[in-house]
Amino acid sequence: MRKNTILIASHNPGKVSEIAELLSPFAMTVLSAAELDIVEPEETGSTFAQNAILKAEHCRDVSGLVSLADDSGIEVAALGGAPGIYSARWAGPNKDFNVAMARIEKELQATSPDGQPDRRANFKCALAFAVPGQKTQVFEGRVDGTLVWPMRGTLGFGYDPVFQPLGFAKTFGQMDQHKKHRMSHRAGAFGKLLAAKPWDTLWS
Ligand code: IMP
Repeated sequence: MRKNTILIASHNPGKVSEIAELLSPFAMTVLSAAELDIVEPEETGSTFAQNAILKAEHCRDVSGLVSLADDSGIEVAALGGAPGIYSARWAGPNKDFNVAMARIEKELQATSPDGQPDRRANFKCALAFAVPGQKTQVFEGRVDGTLVWPMRGTLGFGYDPVFQPLGFAKTFGQMDQHKKHRMSHRAGAFGKLLAAKPWDTLWS
């Protein structure tokens, strides 16, 4: 276990730099799975937490380093929580989220003969912090909202143009991104991680 070093279990440069920025007050060296040529494991879990643990523990076991992974997605109440852990996979091999958002709307309409489906949805994020020889800790965040159609806004990524958080008139795709990042499911999970500072007892 290398002192003051955290390995981010992701190949997504955007995700890695966002996490590195969040960890910047703690003076740590942040490495990524891509830099160390660590191949991502198959996400075989049935919850966000299980998939985050799987990714973090894989990186920890391969590298011997303290590792951090996240897993996230959108859950639609009327679809029994789908796409959930399959959120990225619903966009297909071309990662086309217009296709994924249209599929949600089609399946939502099919649930309601009167054209008034239950439009409640939420994003969830699970963060897993894995340390050699210790039980992995998980921190979770959630944001609740409503699905709109047609999609609105071009900011953000993934399902942002169809998700309007409760109490707001704009979708995540229309909202100032700093504002989104302060209220998002990821912010919730990171808030808990940063409050717990699980690395504090490791290197002192
Ligand atoms: P992951 O990178 O395997 O965790 O995949 C998460 C997927 O969930 C992404 O590809 C997005 O489709 C979706 N997702 C997660 N967080 C957000 C968000 O903040 N906005 C929009 N889509 C999101």
